[in-house]
Amino acid sequence: MVTQSDMSGHRRTIAVFGAAGHTGRFIVTQLLRCGFAPLAIGRDSEKMAESGFQKSGVEIRSASIDDPASLDRSLAGAVAVINCAGPFLDTADAVAAAALRARIHYLDVTAEQPSAQATFDRFGDAATKAGVVVIPAMGFYGGFADLLATAAMGNWDSADEIRLGIALDSWHPTQGTRITGQRNTARRLVIDDGKFVPLAQPAPQTFWDFPEPFGRQDVSEIPFSEVPVIARHLRVARLRSYLNNAPLRDLRDSTTPPPIADDETGRSAQTFLVDVVVRNGSRTRRAIAQGRDIYAFTAPLVVEAVERILDGRARGNGALAPGETFDSTDFLRAIVPEYLTFELCAD
Ligand SMILES: NC(=O)c1ccc[n+]([C@@H]2O[C@H](COP(=O)([O-])OP(=O)(O)OC[C@H]3O[C@@H](n4cnc5c(N)ncnc54)[C@H](OP(=O)(O)O)[C@@H]3O)[C@@H](O)[C@H]2O)c1
Repeated sequence: MVTQSDMSGHRRTIAVFGAAGHTGRFIVTQLLRCGFAPLAIGRDSEKMAESGFQKSGVEIRSASIDDPASLDRSLAGAVAVINCAGPFLDTADAVAAAALRARIHYLDVTAEQPSAQATFDRFGDAATKAGVVVIPAMGFYGGFADLLATAAMGNWDSADEIRLGIALDSWHPTQGTRITGQRNTARRLVIDDGKFVPLAQPAPQTFWDFPEPFGRQDVSEIPFSEVPVIARHLRVARLRSYLNNAPLRDLRDSTTPPPIADDETGRSAQTFLVDVVVRNGSRTRRAIAQGRDIYAFTAPLVVEAVERILDGRARGNGALAPGETFDSTDFLRAIVPEYLTFELCAD
């Protein structure tokens, strides 16, 4: 078990599985910025050698999900592993199992509902026993929506409805996003009467009045991993998630190029706005957040989570949703203003 009293350098060693991917690189950089020692792990030793990590003083290791011993070796010395190798339907099981054998914390950034649910189901007991935290879906899709919904709930212990609207000005998907979309063919789930039910097909269409600069947008109902994550700890009768149609058109167009760096940190010019409305009877509470580049933004989210787990700000251990692990409002305010604008309002 990782002890809070271990303040040696070892305590700051964080393994990143899938480190040479687009999201993995942002995470390694963010770990360095925050004073951690990242261990960059990938399945392809040549790619890892060419990654340039070593030039920045980052140790590289290779491991395969098909070879548990290689995973065990690759995690030696780390106190947590961040898995950013997707599809997580392929990788989460093997990497989380290796984390538990090593008795270290596990986080991933899955947007895939069945992967997040399977991680909760398979690793909850073992994580509690080992005294470590397992958090699937600590990325933009999934954990971020959960933190916002939990912050909007405030002191309500249940809600009649949570409606989540995401607006992106564009979506230039990475190869990993495209492969994950093809791999994740499971029928998406929403929540009705407090239970998981399949998303209606075809996906319901409506519009959403976002705050400026997006304004009114045509949206499709498209739930991601926030559904199993929110269901893990919030009592909500109905949960609905929407995404505006413009980025969905980008995603469905096979000629849309991958993201291109547009600032010195490598972020693309993509902007996002997430609007969460929680309702009880006729009363509503709302959380609104805006930022830039959903891939890059995933790095401060997951690294803030690691920081809080290691310094004792996680509430308990086991397989947990971000919103139950952390003080959501405090967490979100901690990444303002560098990565986010964030406001809470009530009627
Ligand atoms: N929840 C969110 O908001 C969020 C945010 C960002 C990313 N993601 C997800 O994170 C995943 C990665 O995205 P990305 O943008 O970083 O894509 P990417 O640039 O294509 O990188 C994918 C990485 O995963 C590795 N990988 C894939 N399958 C693997 C396997 N079976 N074993 C070992 N490594 C494997 C790849 O290794 P190779 O180079 O060897 O192929 C590469 O390092 C995707 O599933 C994406 O949907 C989610």
